[in-house]
Amino acid sequence: MTKAYFNDHLEKRDPLIFNALEGEKKRQQGQIELIASENSVSLASLDAIGSVITNKTVEGYPGKRFHGGADFADIVEQAAIDRAKELFGCEFANVQPHSGTQANQAVFFSLLQPGDVVLSLDLAAGGHLSHGAKPNQSGRWFTIVSYGVDRETGRIDYDNVETLAQEHKPKLIISGGSSYPREIDFARMRKIADAVGATYLVDMAHFAGLVAAGVHPTPLPHADIVTCTTTKTLRGARGGLILTNREDLFKKLQPAVFPGVQGSAHLATIAGKAVCLGEALTDEFKVYGANVKANAQLLAQVLQKRGVRIVSGGTDTHVVLVDVSSKGLTGQQAQDALSTINVTSNKNPIPFDSPKPSEWKGLRLGSSAGTTRGFGAAEFDVIGNLIADIFDVQNAGEATRTRVIDRCKAVVADLCAKFPIYA
Ligand SMILES: Cc1ncc(COP(=O)(O)O)c(C=O)c1O
Repeated sequence: MTKAYFNDHLEKRDPLIFNALEGEKKRQQGQIELIASENSVSLASLDAIGSVITNKTVEGYPGKRFHGGADFADIVEQAAIDRAKELFGCEFANVQPHSGTQANQAVFFSLLQPGDVVLSLDLAAGGHLSHGAKPNQSGRWFTIVSYGVDRETGRIDYDNVETLAQEHKPKLIISGGSSYPREIDFARMRKIADAVGATYLVDMAHFAGLVAAGVHPTPLPHADIVTCTTTKTLRGARGGLILTNREDLFKKLQPAVFPGVQGSAHLATIAGKAVCLGEALTDEFKVYGANVKANAQLLAQVLQKRGVRIVSGGTDTHVVLVDVSSKGLTGQQAQDALSTINVTSNKNPIPFDSPKPSEWKGLRLGSSAGTTRGFGAAEFDVIGNLIADIFDVQNAGEATRTRVIDRCKAVVADLCAKFPIYA
C-alpha cells in the first residue's frame, strides 16, 4: 500500500484524471492556440511545477521563514527573485502572488482603504476585471473611475485620463489590460499621476514577455509599482509578480502579500516561475519575443487585407483585437466558427461594445503560443487567410461551408504535425 502511494504513476492510480490530462495534451497538440493569454511552458518548467517541493510549507520570505527545513525553498525563491530583478532591471521583487489578480489585490491592500478612488482602464476598452470590475473585490471595495479609448483611433484618450484624474483625485492610477493592443504612454501617465499625487501602477501581465525580450518599452522607469503574470507572453508557471524600485513601497508590499492576502508560498509554482524567468534571460527568448510581435503584426495585416477590421488599426504587442462585425458576425459566432477547424480564440468586447457577451463584436487573437510552437511569418500568413476564409464562408450554403471547413481543418492538422509540442 505505502509502496504504491510513492511509486504508482497517475495512469495507474487515477485513470479518470490521467485520461483527462492526456486528452488536454492531445487537444493542445492538435489545435492552433490563438488565445492571447495562453502559451506553452517548457518541459523544464513542467518538471519544476510538478516537483516534490509542493510538499513544503513555508510562510515568510527567504531567510525569514516561520517553518524549518526551508533551505531548498530559500534557494528556489531567491533564484526567482534575483532573476526577476535582473530580467526587468528593478531593485525589488516579490514572486509569491498566486496569480495576477492576487498581485493586484496585494497592491490595493498595501496602499488603499475601502472607498478610495482608483482610476483604471474600462473593461470594454481592454482593461482587466481585477482593476475594478463590479463583480470583482476591487470593484466592490473601491470607488472606481474608468478611462477609455478614443472612438476613432482605439487608443487611450490621455486627455480624458487627465481630466478624470483632476476631477476625481484618485489615490491609484492603473495602466494595462487584457485586450489593449497598443503601447501605453507610461511617461504621460506618470505625469498625470504626479499632478494629482496618485501612485502609478502598471499591470504588464500581457506584455511582460515582450518587455523581457526588449521589444516593448519597459514601464519600470515610470511606474511606482509593476505587476504581472508569469503566464502569457512570459510563457511560464501560472502566477504573479510584483516589482518596484521604491523601497518604501516594497516595505508595504511584502506584508501585503504575506500575511496580508496570502498564506504559505506555493513553492512548486515559484520553482516554475524561476525556470521561466531564467529562460527569459536567454538570447533565444529575445528572438521569440521579436517573433511574437512580428507575427501579430503580420496576422493583423493579413486580416485587414481580407476586409476584416482590426481595432486601432494594428498592434504593438501580441494581441490582435478583431472587430468581427465587419464580417457580419458576433464574437461568439466567430469563436465557434474557428473552433470547427481547431483554431482556439475568445470572444471579447471591443471599445463601446454592448455589455451583453452574446452581442460582443470582438474576437481576441494572440501570437504567443503559435510563436512558441515555431510558427513564423509563412505560417501566420496561412493562419490569417484560414481565419478570413472561415469568416467569409459562414453565410454560404451548407455544401460550400463544409468544403471550406474540411480544407481549413486539414491545413491546421498539417501545421500542427509539422510543429509538434511535447512530442
Ligand atoms: C492585465 C491582467 N492583469 C491580471 C490578470 C489576472 O491574472 P490571473 O488570471 O493570474 O489572476 C490578467 C489575466 O488575464 C490580465 O490580463
